[in-house]
Amino acid sequence: MKILAIETSCDETAASVLEAKGGRFSILSNIIASQIKIHAKTGGVVPEVAAREHVEKIIPIVKKAIKGKVDLIAVTAGPGLATSLSVGVETAKALAYIWKKPIVAVNHLAGHVYANWLDNRKIEFPILCLIVSGGHTELVLMKKHLDFKIIGSTRDDAAGEAFDKVAKILKLGYPGGPEIAKRVKGKDKIKFPRPMIKSNDFDFSFSGLKTAVLYYHKDHKKQINEICTAFQNAVIDVLVTKTKKAARKYKVKTVLLGGGVAANQALRNKIKQELNCNPPQMKYTTDNAAMIAAAGYFMAKQKQFTPWQKLDIDPNWELGQKFKPLPR
Ligand code: KG4
Ligand code: ZN
Repeated sequence: MKILAIETSCDETAASVLEAKGGRFSILSNIIASQIKIHAKTGGVVPEVAAREHVEKIIPIVKKAIKGKVDLIAVTAGPGLATSLSVGVETAKALAYIWKKPIVAVNHLAGHVYANWLDNRKIEFPILCLIVSGGHTELVLMKKHLDFKIIGSTRDDAAGEAFDKVAKILKLGYPGGPEIAKRVKGKDKIKFPRPMIKSNDFDFSFSGLKTAVLYYHKDHKKQINEICTAFQNAVIDVLVTKTKKAARKYKVKTVLLGGGVAANQALRNKIKQELNCNPPQMKYTTDNAAMIAAAGYFMAKQKQFTPWQKLDIDPNWELGQKFKPLPR
């Protein structure tokens, strides 16, 4: 089965063709047009600007990705920016109509989880997945394919969002994650709080940590590297400690990591060391369409198709909830 996947939920226009043969995946193409340079000017994503960019890029990107005939179209239908999602979804509908091929509407976060299947390793259930993206921080339990149960999530900022906001406070540019990561040096010289690290649930909170950085920075303007180091260590400490606690409680066989913050080398090292978790390859951590194709494959196996006439976006689609396309 050959799958064309399209992803436009935020600020990357992406298309990929994945071939599934005998239960193994080969990625025939994985094309991404990043809008980072454009959004760096405004210090964050302006939804209308992002959507216009998607409109301009989507056809050339899909054209570049296409490798012969495909059997299925997978498209991110939510969660994400409504106007960005619409570009990918409408393109997928047009192609499905012309080619007479089925469509699967993929949840973006399910894509981040399924990035872990792209390198064909054996993954055993039950699974605990830590999703850390720009908009979400969630601990998800999976007893079987596509069966997502959120056992913890952030009460305010997501981990990626905290990286981006702290980078803004420190005037380091957008996106903040890589900017902060490259300034991390040695051991902590500052002690920042580790919000909710000892709470009796699996929820997170990062906005207090961001405020602690704001106040510390006001009085110590020159300690940029020290602040980056202590901030990143605090975030990783909370993420790994809570994941460990959840893995123990739910007696899972596998721990997975997904989402843009999974590109952080220190987090990758620590979760590998402490939880025996093999993070996905770097290129599949931040937004891409190959991960949407992987999730789409398992959806197709379960015949979870959506006719193009009924397909629309679901900008607030929560993982584990039923897909509810916006009514026309
Ligand atoms: O998954 P993603 O590409 O987009 C969303 O679905 O939101 O995640 C983007 C997030 C941004 O907040 C970015 O700052 C963060 O991932 N990120 C990182 C790193 N690379 C990207 N955070 C920490 N360290 C990194 N190396
Ligand atoms: Zn993402």
